[in-house]
Amino acid sequence: MPKKSSSTPKRIRVDFEPLGRRVDNDLGDNLLTAAQAAGVQLVSLCGGIGSCDNCRVRLISGELSPPTSEEQDALGTEDLARGYRLACQAIPLSNVKIDIPPESLTAPQRLQIEGLETLIEPDPVVTSFDMQLTPPTLDDLRSDVSRVKQALDDLGIACPVIGLPVLEDLSDILRSQNWTARLVLRGDEVIVGLPLECGLLGLAVDIGTTKLAAYLVDLQNGNTLAKTGRMNPQISYGEDVVSRIAYTINNEGGRKLLQAKLVEAINDMLAELRNQTETEPEQVVEAVVVGNTAMHHLFAGLPVRQLGEAPYVPAVADPMDIPASQIGLMLAPGAYVHLPPNIAGYVGADHVAMLLATDMWDSARTVLALDIGTNTEISLATGGRLLSCSCASGPAFEGAHIHDGMRAAPGAIERVQIFGEEVRVHTVGSQPAVGICGSGILDAIAEMVAAGVLDSRGKLQKDHSLVDEDDGVVEFLIMPAKATGHEHNIIVTQKDVGEIQLAKGAIRAGIEILLEEAGLAHDEIEEFIVAGAFGTYLDIRSAVRVGMFPALPVDRFRQVGNAAGTGARQMLISAERRQATAEIVRRVEYIELTTHPNFTNEFIKAMTF
Ligand code: FES
Repeated sequence: MPKKSSSTPKRIRVDFEPLGRRVDNDLGDNLLTAAQAAGVQLVSLCGGIGSCDNCRVRLISGELSPPTSEEQDALGTEDLARGYRLACQAIPLSNVKIDIPPESLTAPQRLQIEGLETLIEPDPVVTSFDMQLTPPTLDDLRSDVSRVKQALDDLGIACPVIGLPVLEDLSDILRSQNWTARLVLRGDEVIVGLPLECGLLGLAVDIGTTKLAAYLVDLQNGNTLAKTGRMNPQISYGEDVVSRIAYTINNEGGRKLLQAKLVEAINDMLAELRNQTETEPEQVVEAVVVGNTAMHHLFAGLPVRQLGEAPYVPAVADPMDIPASQIGLMLAPGAYVHLPPNIAGYVGADHVAMLLATDMWDSARTVLALDIGTNTEISLATGGRLLSCSCASGPAFEGAHIHDGMRAAPGAIERVQIFGEEVRVHTVGSQPAVGICGSGILDAIAEMVAAGVLDSRGKLQKDHSLVDEDDGVVEFLIMPAKATGHEHNIIVTQKDVGEIQLAKGAIRAGIEILLEEAGLAHDEIEEFIVAGAFGTYLDIRSAVRVGMFPALPVDRFRQVGNAAGTGARQMLISAERRQATAEIVRRVEYIELTTHPNFTNEFIKAMTF
């Protein structure tokens, strides 16, 4: 047990990322004990004696006890220097933030990668030509490139560009394939030489502030061959966009580090997708990456400081095509990454992709579409107009800043119902409850309003039997300690209610301002599209009951999953869909809410229940 200094606190806060679980731990307890108390299920095959190397975690910030001999044996100096530790051995000496790699968890976090599947005629920006070249002889000493150019010229493609990354492999490829090749071109640029009739693949990625989704697509028939998701590793450096921007400002090399973390995670996802499909990196000849403007900039290595300062303008709003090799993505040697246009500093290419995928931008009907995240982007299409805004809804729906909040991992309460004095819940994976995620807290608040636990201003009613006051904190008991998976009460505090009021108030105010700008009433919305991870799982009736969404008939709502990912896939397989984004951006009338004269009024109104 570590020596207790006079400045060492008796209780130590351990923050487990990327799950967003926090626990106050007794001094002297190791990280495995803290994880168990927090309901975080780490693999611990050896039962915590330091011999299985399964409970590997990484220190992000704070201080841990010096490595034990078991850790030195299991991890080695290099991994120890990178912050890796064994949870069963390391004891926090101060408040710590710990990163849990996915392989150290027994059950995966729920990641939203499903989205609309729409039929798009494949028309990718790359083309391929199968060719047979004449090998060199003593009488024909032309270079390899001259042979390739001549063969392409015979096909009517004059003066192709062959860049250095392609040249590095081309000669070997031609010889190993007996002077045959499927040459892949993007415009007049050669991307790669593949074996004859080899399939062409594309990678679509949606970079969310919290989650990443990646799709491997067959470019010839447009089918999605495999998909995967994982947490955005940048979470360790800031929960939301604003704190990540601050990280890059306050830490030299921070921008490069955040870019490297993202690229590493995307390469890992691509390797997983390729393993699933037994394909080669050279086959991946094009990528489309979408994200909010900050994620877009961090991926491309662009400055983000200006996104954190009024008037919050992007460094680049135009579409970009960047060589994958320049970013470090493991695609075909000459492949490009296409980044669609951004609309504004807080309405990015992911929203453009969502508008594209849902086709709402071109709809003859009045359609409102939103993607709820730490930042919520909202668009309204009506009578040929397309109005968009963005509101800071905060991370409460990701479980952050909520007393027992957590992300939608196993054991998170995702549904709540109140029957008199009985609270019934359902958890992700039907595991013992260890916290509450976004859809659960939204349900809980809606039920609390209906049950009279909350008044219209959001005040907890102390005379309700499930409302208690503990140490000056007024709280509603969702689940008593004995029924949970970690033996702590799961509660909703007055502060939690306030966080949800801020989030739902911001979203509703954004909706109201767009309707007001278009001169429309609520019931003129013919379709209400809810996209994104949280939007997939939330109960629409709860969102209406708390006043986050207007009270429209339930059949006007459509939950579409990860529509940004769908839009990215469409842009991957279709040059025409890619071009449509220019028209979307041209058509958008962006409404800045922070300076809108009615925003504060609408926001205050929307805070009530
Ligand atoms: S639980 Fe086996 S090494 Fe920690």
